[in-house]
Amino acid sequence: MKLIWEKSLEIGYPDIDNQHKELLERINYFFESVNSGATKEEVIRILDFLEKYTNDHCKLEEEIQRKYNYGKYNQQCIQHQVFRNHLQDIRYIYESYGVTGAVINYMQQKILDFWNYHIQKLDKDFGRFLKEKCKVTI
Ligand SMILES: [Fe+2]
Ligand SMILES: [Fe+2]
Repeated sequence: MKLIWEKSLEIGYPDIDNQHKELLERINYFFESVNSGATKEEVIRILDFLEKYTNDHCKLEEEIQRKYNYGKYNQQCIQHQVFRNHLQDIRYIYESYGVTGAVINYMQQKILDFWNYHIQKLDKDFGRFLKEKCKVTI
């Protein structure tokens, strides 16, 4: 699995767009390492980075959402927590079962669910809100 960045994914707020691009790189790097037989230590280290980066990203978005009194703030927080939980599940499954076809499918499905729903829908809604309601310009 390789996620591809497209211009249509931009929400129009550069700090968030740059973090989404970085998140995509880290997700791709994680799957590359799993698929290329990286050692368990390497995979766990990459997962640590991915989890930390995800936390920092969610924190930044939530700060901006609070600042502008965003109506879907609670929904965003819940979904951010869902993704953090997915990453913890991925770590647990990987540590318990190693790399199997079923484990990789499980990981990909969890990540794709987040990417397709959260980034492409929820965060884009947030970007529209910033542009339309707050007149935040790029
Ligand atoms: Fe978000
Ligand atoms: Fe986001």
